[in-house]
Amino acid sequence: MELNQFQQSILNGIPDTLPALKDYDPGINHAPKRKAILSEQEKKLALRNALRYFPEHLHASLAPEFALELEKYGRIYMYRYRPDYKIFARSINDFPHKSRQAAAIMLMLSNNLDDAVAQHPHELITYGGNGAVFQNWAQYLLTMQYLATMTDEQTLVLYSGHPMGLFPSHKDAPRVIVTNGMVIPNYSKPDDWERFNAMGVSQYGQMTAGSFMYIGPQGIVHGTTITVLNAARMHSKPGETAAGKLFVTSGLGGMSGAQPKAAVIAGVVGVVAEVNPKAAVKRHEQGWVDELHSDLDELIVRIKKAVANKEAISLAYLGNIVDLWEKLAEENIHVDLGSDQTSLHNPWAGGYYPVGYSYEDSNRMMAEEPEKFKLAVRESLKRHVAAINKLTSQGMYFFDYGNAFMLEAGRAGAEIFKNDGTFRYPSYVQDIMGPMCFDYGFGPFRWVCASSDPSDLSLTDRIAAEILEQMYKEAPQEIKNQISDNLTWIKQAEQNKLVVGSQARILYADAEGRIRIAEAFNKAIAEGKLKGPVVLGRDHHDVSGTDSPFRETSNIYDGSSFTADMAIHNVIGDSFRGATWVSIHNGGGVGWGEVINGGFGMVLDGSDDADRRLKNMLFWDVNNGISRRAWARNKEALFAIKRAMEVEPRLKVTIPSIADDSIIDGAFSK
Ligand SMILES: NC(=O)c1ccc[n+]([C@@H]2O[C@H](COP(=O)([O-])OP(=O)(O)OC[C@H]3O[C@@H](n4cnc5c(N)ncnc54)[C@H](O)[C@@H]3O)[C@@H](O)[C@H]2O)c1
Repeated sequence: MELNQFQQSILNGIPDTLPALKDYDPGINHAPKRKAILSEQEKKLALRNALRYFPEHLHASLAPEFALELEKYGRIYMYRYRPDYKIFARSINDFPHKSRQAAAIMLMLSNNLDDAVAQHPHELITYGGNGAVFQNWAQYLLTMQYLATMTDEQTLVLYSGHPMGLFPSHKDAPRVIVTNGMVIPNYSKPDDWERFNAMGVSQYGQMTAGSFMYIGPQGIVHGTTITVLNAARMHSKPGETAAGKLFVTSGLGGMSGAQPKAAVIAGVVGVVAEVNPKAAVKRHEQGWVDELHSDLDELIVRIKKAVANKEAISLAYLGNIVDLWEKLAEENIHVDLGSDQTSLHNPWAGGYYPVGYSYEDSNRMMAEEPEKFKLAVRESLKRHVAAINKLTSQGMYFFDYGNAFMLEAGRAGAEIFKNDGTFRYPSYVQDIMGPMCFDYGFGPFRWVCASSDPSDLSLTDRIAAEILEQMYKEAPQEIKNQISDNLTWIKQAEQNKLVVGSQARILYADAEGRIRIAEAFNKAIAEGKLKGPVVLGRDHHDVSGTDSPFRETSNIYDGSSFTADMAIHNVIGDSFRGATWVSIHNGGGVGWGEVINGGFGMVLDGSDDADRRLKNMLFWDVNNGISRRAWARNKEALFAIKRAMEVEPRLKVTIPSIADDSIIDGAFSK
């Protein structure tokens, strides 16, 4: 399609006449059929709701078609209205616009719906099975039309994908405000989501899906690399590097598939078990895992050689992780780091394959003999934990990777508890990401080059590396490692070929790092060194944006981890300090009703306004969370917030007095 035809389609919005019916493309990965949950009355309501987007003369034609979609797929996606042009992150200049900021937002949301990036693109799902950008194609068409015609004196309001409209505002206001899945707290059970979503009134935005900030698998590779590096460091002698350390884990699926690549970037020997040969072969073909092994004896020989030679290498074991752990324990192999990324958040329907059964037998059993399958999973988890316990007693460091491993192992009766009833092993946020990153303000700073030109990304990599190099020289000892890890990462990023979709990059930085890198990008745009604007953002796995008691805020120990004030304050604060768009979501990562998370996007265009906004907003976006973590008495956050107050005299944060344990204990014994 010609560029001007694409632009005209965007400007047309929802067409007045019926577009041609679309075939259901079996070559595309489609969302599963959603469970039928609506009553007959509610089905009529869903249909009435869907027809609101179309002129009355089309209702008689569309009603039976949409009713059929609801029956067949559990949702009304309005497939007929999926555009004929290819959706992807084109250059910002290709999107019709009156506001450059709005054009950047079109680029970002197009990336989230690109066939090459999105998990179920025709159902407008970006990742995680249900992370939606919009609920239906009418919302997409209308939103693109609003974005193409709006000015910098207006703000677009999106309610769970529905564009409520353009409202007058001003040039410093966000161009778009996104809310996803916000419901009255008592109505936040998974079935509530199913019902509201089927009626077309709410959606699950996950984290970066509904906030237009998804950048493909790069984000998870980076996060996993940082986790492995820090885990290795925690268990190293002074002066020792990660080289020659052995990291054993499982899973080569969606997120878990990042583990072997991360292990190699971190410089360790990574061994990952995967029962599904298709998943393992796919990762091998992609170059994300170096070698495939199906014979345990041969694998042990290879592991010993790799460790002795300090190779940075990833080895996949085509088999069950329990067999691998038991073999390692039996052979008395010293394992430095251990984890697990089977999908234990979904144990009975394919998330975890029990030891002793072939992959095919397990698949048959879970459908035909579900009770027998449950028993097999429980037995397997007991053996799984027993082997891990043996290796940890010999010095291995094991951590839970946010996949409900310990929760399900505990429910299965495995020996995963300490005497006081708490889990034997820490979660990766409690031990690693929380105290080493979030409490110091280090988090997932990301950017996208809106020219969509790889040479712009290359230049931003070099600029970021220069800034980190300067910062490393000046930084206090407490944060030097974080800076140097990210320096190594950014220097290798281009050669590691991490881009899928938009020209995007991620690294972890603290408030100072994020501000200094952003300032340098803005200057390079003003000087014409970069060909187009740069969009800043982050994912929600960060210091301030997310209240999630089982993940991001699991290292908050003052009893406030089930409150969500921080996330709400964060999005409000970002919105009046210069964000180009903001989002706040119920759910994401750990599930609907389990987390409140917010994000932002900020367009840098080389202007003085952009320079003012970035300093103001990024400072808040990081220090808000540090102050809350400091108030929770986290030592690292206290260090970071005191340092921030020295740099910025206008920052005055309430600092906790730390009560002595003997005074507290004594007070109750009287
Ligand atoms: N990587 C992260 O940063 C991160 C963060 C939070 C949570 N998680 C969690 O990690 C889990 C994995 O995520 P995913 O997207 O990779 O899921 P996925 O289902 O795509 O992959 C899991 C893989 O584990 C394999 N597997 C299952 N049982 C096995 C066994 N006994 N032995 C060997 N292999 C086995 C499966 O075949 C599958 O390929 C999820 O529960 C997710 O919520 C990951």
